[in-house]
Order: sequence, then structure tokens, then C-alpha cells
Amino acid sequence: MKILFKKPTNNKDILFIDVNSKNNDEVIRENGVKTLYLKCEEKMTLRKLFILIRKMVVIAKGTKAEKIAFDFSDFKFGSVKISENELAEIIGTQLDFANYEFNEYKTKTKEGFPEIKEIYISGTTKEVEKNILKGDIIAKEVNKTRTLSNIPGGDMTPQVLAQKAKEAVKGLPVKITVLGEKEMKKANMQAILSVGRGSDEESKFIIMEYKGGSVKEKPIVLVGKGVTFDTGGINLKPSSSLLGMNMDMSGGASVIHTIALVAKMKLKKNVIGLIPSVENMPSGKSYRPGDVVRSMSGKTIEILNTDAEGRVILADALTYAQKYKPEVVIDIATLTGAAAVALGERASAIFTDDDELSKQFEKVGEKTGDYVWRLPLWEEYENEIKGSLGDWTNIHNKDSRYGGAIYAAIFLHQFIKGTKWLHIDMAPRMTSMQGEYLSGGALGTPVRALFKFIENN
Ligand code: BES
Ligand code: MN
Ligand code: ZN
Repeated sequence: MKILFKKPTNNKDILFIDVNSKNNDEVIRENGVKTLYLKCEEKMTLRKLFILIRKMVVIAKGTKAEKIAFDFSDFKFGSVKISENELAEIIGTQLDFANYEFNEYKTKTKEGFPEIKEIYISGTTKEVEKNILKGDIIAKEVNKTRTLSNIPGGDMTPQVLAQKAKEAVKGLPVKITVLGEKEMKKANMQAILSVGRGSDEESKFIIMEYKGGSVKEKPIVLVGKGVTFDTGGINLKPSSSLLGMNMDMSGGASVIHTIALVAKMKLKKNVIGLIPSVENMPSGKSYRPGDVVRSMSGKTIEILNTDAEGRVILADALTYAQKYKPEVVIDIATLTGAAAVALGERASAIFTDDDELSKQFEKVGEKTGDYVWRLPLWEEYENEIKGSLGDWTNIHNKDSRYGGAIYAAIFLHQFIKGTKWLHIDMAPRMTSMQGEYLSGGALGTPVRALFKFIENN
């Protein structure tokens, strides 16, 4: 998608956009000029603005238009309290976000796939243009995150994910180290190794280091769940729950491309990315219900359900994160279906015992569209994950159906206590929803919010 800051020189093949609350959403041809009359709400909000921009792109694509033109000021609404630069960044982000489709596995037809190729934007200043292009760079990384997640499980292994991480930061000042099973064994990362043992694919631990800040500055450490396929293991998932489990590395993908984005934007921050990557498979070598695993921290984990694997690999990653003496650790994981039971598919669940950090993240979530909602991380819940054989059980010790997202968070907390920490259970937002004007499949959350958080910090 090319963005041009001018009015188109001729009207041929251009779809002009007219935004007004009195419009119906319709395309009308008058004197050879095609116009999309786009209906906006009487009272616009930031949330509705995201949708409006995407609706424009999706309707335009639906008419097979390849070039659209609009005026920047059409998207200025008195009721939306944001600066011009923020608006510009939002427009730049939402355009490419909505234009994305995952067509890699489809055979190209003669006409190709519907896609907006050129966007003419008038009424801009130099400053606005700069911020629209910044938004465009953000969206490109979000879309790359979506592509990584969308890749089928047969083509996405821990080895491939590590390779993709390298490609994502090629030419950028990011150091990548990939630990294999031998190295992890030396480092006592038995929690990760246990989960990966059932698979023929070698488990990997991907380390990405970007040092844009001063040497003394403590880093922000991002930890992303990288389960390249989650069958559930010996606690095999039912058929209906298996589809989509190729996307169980979405947290890891978001970390990879947040680091790439931070490096591309040359932020003066130190940011580390850690991605424990395994495939959760049943076989004669699999870890078993009832096994007790000694994690890198020294604490033991009593495995009551092999399908609660994400928290087990994250335990070692969170322990590893503390080597960096981090300012803050944020983990991102498609951790529990229960988070979606609690919130529906409209927000990721967040957990922290730091009220300030929670508020900060809620704010960047609202500003970017990566919506989050806080759930409790109260100490009382620890009672229900106390083990009988080991220190902590990886699910509720009476196998209760209640509060699944919370018990996962409480479990993680045992491995990162004393460090400023935020847990994002992004399972509810793993894929897009109907009516969001986004193509189906992976959503690329929460790259935008993470980037904004790091930028503001
Ligand atoms: N990866 C899943 C969670 C998930 C489910 C993410 C659906 C996205 C969509 C996770 O590893 C899992 O299997 N969790 C179990 C936990 C249970 C065994 C306590 C779940 O949610 O059912
Ligand atoms: Mn699972
Ligand atoms: Zn999983």
C-alpha cells in the first residue's frame, strides 16, 4: 500500500471518500467520478473512529477499488479528544491494518486479491504526514505478527519461529541468541523441556536484545508464549478445540515484532524479548499428568493437566527474565479459554499487583485499540494451586472450572514475585471478531499497545 500526500491528478480509477453522519454507506458514480459516501455516527468516539477508518478500507476493497482518496480533515471530530499527530498515527495504522489479508496459501487468480494499492491523502501538514507514515510502519509490524500466527502448525515449528525472529530484525541492531535443548538442559530449564518432550520438533528459547538506551538503564523484558501447536498433549483437546491452536504462539509473535518495531523506530530504550517455544504433542515421550517438574527457579510444578502447558513454559521464561534486573516484565500469552469466558472476545485480560502499571496499560490499550481489562491477582487464590506432591499445581488443585484465567495468572506470579510485572492473557483477542472490519484469523494484538507503552515509558 502506497500513501501519497496529494490530490490525485486525474479522477480515473479513484474512489473518493465523503464522510458524513447523514450519508448511507454507498458508492455512487456521478459524472464519471466514483464516491464512497461513508456514514459516521453523530457522536464519534475514538473506538468508533478506528472502526470507521477500517470500514472505509473494507468497503473500498469490496468494490474492487485499488486507489482511494480522502481529506485528512474529514476524520477530525470535535468529540474525539486527540491531537492531530495522534489522529495521523491512528489513520496510518488503521489503513494498513484493515487492508491486510493472509493469502499466502491461496492460488493467485488473474485479477489478484482485492487490495488497496494507493491512498491519496490531502489536507495534511508535514508533521501530520510524518505521523501517518509512522502509523504505517506500526501497522506493517502488526500485520507481520498476524502472518506469523496465521501460518499453519505444520509449517510453524520452534525452529521456524526462531528463524522468523532473525528475519524480523535483519539489519537492525538486535542481538538474537537461540538456545536449543542441550543449552536449556544446562540452564536447568526443565519446565520448558518437559512440555516440549512429546514432540519430534526441538524446543527453542529465543532471546532478542535491543539496547537503544544507556547502559545503566534497566530493560523492559517482554516474554511471549511460543507454543507452535497446542494439541493439549496427553490431555488431548477435543476435535473442536484443536483448530486454531497453530496460533498458540501469538504472544511470541507479538514480542518478535514489537522488538523489531522498537528497533526500527530507534527508541532510546533497552528492550529484551524472551520466547520459550515448544510444540505440545502426545507421544510415548510426553510429559504426563501427575509428573512433577523442577523448574529453573528450583520450585517444583505438579502437572495435573498437560494442556495447561503455557504457564509451565512461562515459569522458566519468567525466571530467566530476572537475570536482566528488569525495570518491568510483561508477558503475553494465549493462556486460557477461561479469559474469553470471562470477558468475551473484546478485551485481553491483564493481571498485576501494581495499580499504576495497570492504569498505564489500560490507557495505551484504549489509545491503540488493543483493549484490556483487569482481573484480580489476590493472594487468597494461591490456596487452590498448592500441590500435594510438588510446590504448585499447574491448574486448580481440585480441577474446578471456576476462575481459570486467574489461577493461570496466580501460578505465573509464583515465578516472578518481587519484580514489577504485568501478565496479558490475550486468548480472547487471538483472532478478529465479526463486525471489526478486519480479515479473519490472527489479530496481531498487543503490538500497538506494547509499542506505545515502551514509547511512553
Ligand atoms: N492455548 C490454550 C488456551 C487457548 C484456548 C487459547 C483457546 C486460545 C483459544 C491453553 O494452553 C489451554 O489449553 N488452556 C486450557 C487450560 C485448562 C487445561 C486449565 C484451557 O483454557 O482450557
Ligand atoms: Mn493448552
Ligand atoms: Zn496453549
